[in-house]
Amino acid sequence: MEILRTVDELRAWSRAAHKSDKTVGLVPTMGALHQGHASLIRAAAASCGATAVTVFVNPTQFGPNEDFARYPRTFDADCTLAQAQGADVTFAPAVDEIYPEGAATFVEVEDIGDRLDGVSRPKHFRGVSTVVAKLFIATEADLAFFGQKDAAQVAILRRMTTDLRLATKIVVCPIVREPDGLALSSRNVYLTSSQRIQALALCRAIGVAESLVGHGQRTAAILMEAAHAVFGAEPAIRVDYISVVDWSTLLPVETAAPGTLFAVAAWVGNTRLIDNTILS
Ligand code: PAF
Repeated sequence: MEILRTVDELRAWSRAAHKSDKTVGLVPTMGALHQGHASLIRAAAASCGATAVTVFVNPTQFGPNEDFARYPRTFDADCTLAQAQGADVTFAPAVDEIYPEGAATFVEVEDIGDRLDGVSRPKHFRGVSTVVAKLFIATEADLAFFGQKDAAQVAILRRMTTDLRLATKIVVCPIVREPDGLALSSRNVYLTSSQRIQALALCRAIGVAESLVGHGQRTAAILMEAAHAVFGAEPAIRVDYISVVDWSTLLPVETAAPGTLFAVAAWVGNTRLIDNTILS
């Protein structure tokens, strides 16, 4: 598997693949790859003739007091995993390749980018949409693969691709969980063993909401109250949000129709985790 460092190399690779009539698949990541990423790469390799994984810890999506500096960087292991799952190239640029000196151009998805995680992480989604737009423009990928775990990110990127009339189609792959239910995240490595147990409250809260809906309860306030009760039993966890929203606008709904996003974010110690479900 080839490692590309410049946007020109990535563009040339993608153009050559398109010229040979291959479907180009893109899996944008920040590295520290786990089995959730592996499932995205497998999905890309299964449906595309040429698959690029990108590994770039994007500074513009981190706030000043967030974990950019300590975000796990495991490049060699990432390359091994990406290759084993069928990636053809890994694109791993330096920061100034993505943000040339004096960079002043950003992609901002207004309103929706200020909802859910955008409330406590101002400018986070601006950073995400900017880097993803750059990758979509460079590759003109046919398909780009994202995990449902970042459901708000998916909503924002869908809005962005529609608004900018980008040709890349977004494919959303299911959340991958540990056997005990914890959603896989590169940030799980920050958790101590006791925090790892406390963190299960996130998937428990999701499970309680799903079970209530399964029993016919669709009132958003009741679903949120039940999730709050789950977190109430874990005083070491600080809830950021529990939201029942329309998945395309991220606006709150009163009644959870099928397809509604039930999402939670919470601090376990210094680690902020997210989880969600699309209610049936
Ligand atoms: O989901 C992520 O890992 C990042 O937000 C992404 C899409 C790779 C952009 O940096």
